[in-house]
Amino acid sequence: MKNNPSQKTHLAGRETEIQQYGTVVDRPLSLDHKVRLAGADSLNQILADTMTLRDMYKKHHWQVSGPTFYQLHLLFDKHYGEQSELVDVLAERIQTLGGVAIAMAHDVAETSRVARVPRGREDATMQLFRLLQAHELIIAEAREAAHTAGASGDDGTNDLLVSDVLRRNELQVWFVSEQLAGAGIADNNEEAAGSLVTAHA
Ligand SMILES: [Fe+2]
Repeated sequence: MKNNPSQKTHLAGRETEIQQYGTVVDRPLSLDHKVRLAGADSLNQILADTMTLRDMYKKHHWQVSGPTFYQLHLLFDKHYGEQSELVDVLAERIQTLGGVAIAMAHDVAETSRVARVPRGREDATMQLFRLLQAHELIIAEAREAAHTAGASGDDGTNDLLVSDVLRRNELQVWFVSEQLAGAGIADNNEEAAGSLVTAHA
């Protein structure tokens, strides 16, 4: 029988999958199944959060306003491109470990721990603050996952998390936080951040 596209839409369940999400297949990497499973799991969390941060950068690139419009418009797109590269590196490390990389927006939305951003526009200070919050979350996750991977003998994952994810996010935090110099929240302290959120509520 010829392929019928309308029939294919009904095959959206697990019967079409050749490997379930959350599993790892064997790879001759001299790494235990348990280590690869834990590594893929941590990397998928960081991947979902990185995809969310990547998309937040594009949203802000489009929606930014104010006297620093052009500067931030360019900076946000540069960081978007760099986060897109991290997305690919993270996803391909998960597949390398034998896992299944999270990919689609609906699955990412269910998995990401980054605080939900409203659909409408926000001012540049709020945009910068939200970016710093997301970066800090990813940095904490990456540092913890790097330690675990290193302690388990997964040097490849440890190196990727430190050399790529951690260093790139730390550098971007510098650029974003300097834009907030004088706004009273550049050090990201909770009291100032809380008052900013209240002010924008
Ligand atoms: Fe653009």
